[in-house]
Amino acid sequence: MQKYPSLTELLAIEFPVIMAPMFLVSNKEMLVAGMKAGVMATFPSLNYRKEGELEALLDELNAIKANSPKGSYGINLITQKSNPLYLKHLKICADKKVPFYITSLGSPKEVVAAAKSYGAKVFCDVTNIAHAQKCYENNCDGFIAVGQGAGGHAGPNPLQVLVPSLKKHFPDKPVIAAGGIVTGSGLLSVCVLGADGASIGTRFITSKECMVNDAYKQAILNAGMDDIVMTTKLSGTPCTIIDTAEARKMGYTQSWFERFMSNNKQTRKWFKMLVQIRGMKRLEESVLPNNYKRLWCAGKSVELIEDILSCEEIIARLKEEYRMSIEEVRKYN
Ligand SMILES: Cc1cc2nc3c(=O)[nH]c(=O)nc-3n(C[C@H](O)[C@H](O)[C@H](O)COP(=O)(O)O)c2cc1C
Repeated sequence: MQKYPSLTELLAIEFPVIMAPMFLVSNKEMLVAGMKAGVMATFPSLNYRKEGELEALLDELNAIKANSPKGSYGINLITQKSNPLYLKHLKICADKKVPFYITSLGSPKEVVAAAKSYGAKVFCDVTNIAHAQKCYENNCDGFIAVGQGAGGHAGPNPLQVLVPSLKKHFPDKPVIAAGGIVTGSGLLSVCVLGADGASIGTRFITSKECMVNDAYKQAILNAGMDDIVMTTKLSGTPCTIIDTAEARKMGYTQSWFERFMSNNKQTRKWFKMLVQIRGMKRLEESVLPNNYKRLWCAGKSVELIEDILSCEEIIARLKEEYRMSIEEVRKYN
C-alpha cells in the first residue's frame, strides 16, 4: 500500500513526468512549454552562471507558474564540493522559493534544510542503494532512479532492478525512473515496476524549443543505441555520449594520472573542479549554436527518437501512448 500522495499531488503537476535537467540544453522556452503541458520542467542551475541571470529567470518562472496551474518547475543542483556555485545558487533558489529540487552527485543535506523551511520538495538522483540510503538519512522527499543508458551520468544498474530495489528498501518514498524512456509504453513499463513517474531527458533535445545546434539534433535522429558510449573524460563521472570521431579522440577513460589526482585527498577537490571546467568548455564548443565540435551527450533512447516536435507535441504524444498502452495491457486481463 502506497504511504505517500501520488506524484502529481505531491509536486502539483497534471502528468507524472519530469522534463529532466540537461546541462547547456534546458532553456526557458522548454521550461515554459513543459509547465504549460502539465509536467515538472527542470533545469540545472549551472545553465545560468552569469551574475543576475538565475534570479531573473526564477522571477519569470514564478510569474508563469502562478498563471499556469497545470505544471510546475524545479532546479537541479550539483551538490558536490567541486561545484563552486552550489551554495550561492542554493541561496538564490531558496530566496525565490523554488518549488522543487533535484540534487545530483553529492549529499542533499543543505538543499533539504533550505527547501523544508518553505515546503519545497527535494528528490535525489541515485544510481544505487548506498547513495539512496545517505539521501534517505538526510530526509529527501523521493528518488530519481538513474538507470543504465540514461543520458548524462547514467548508472550501472538496469531500471528493472534499481526501481523495485529502491521500493523495497524505502517503501515510504516515491521513485521516479530515468533512462531510456521515450514512449508512453516506456512510461507505463516503469510504473509497472513500481515507479511513480518518469524523468525524460534525451527526447527533449530534439524539441523545437531546444536551442542546441542543428548538427546535435540531427546526430540524435541518426544515432542508434549502439552509437552511445560511456566516457569519464568529460566530467570525471561516467557519462553517455554519441560515439563521434571527436569522442574517440578524447577517449573513454581517465589516465592513471587523472585517476590518481581525482582520488588523492590533497588534490581531489581542485582536480575534479579542473576536469569539470574543461568538460564544460568542451561541451559548450559542441552544443551551442554556431559551434562545430562534436561531443554530444545523449542516452540510449536515441534509438527511438525519429522526429523534431514541440515540447507540447512530445508530451501530448506521451499521454496518448500511455493511455493506449494501458488499454493494450487490459486486453490480456
Ligand atoms: C545532454 C544532457 C545533459 C544532462 N545534464 C544533466 C545535469 O546537468 N544534471 C543532472 O542531474 N542530469 C543531467 N542529465 C541527466 C538527465 O537529467 C536525465 O537523468 C537523463 O536524461 C534521463 O535519461 P534519458 O536521457 O534516457 O531520458 C543530462 C542528460 C543529458 C542528455
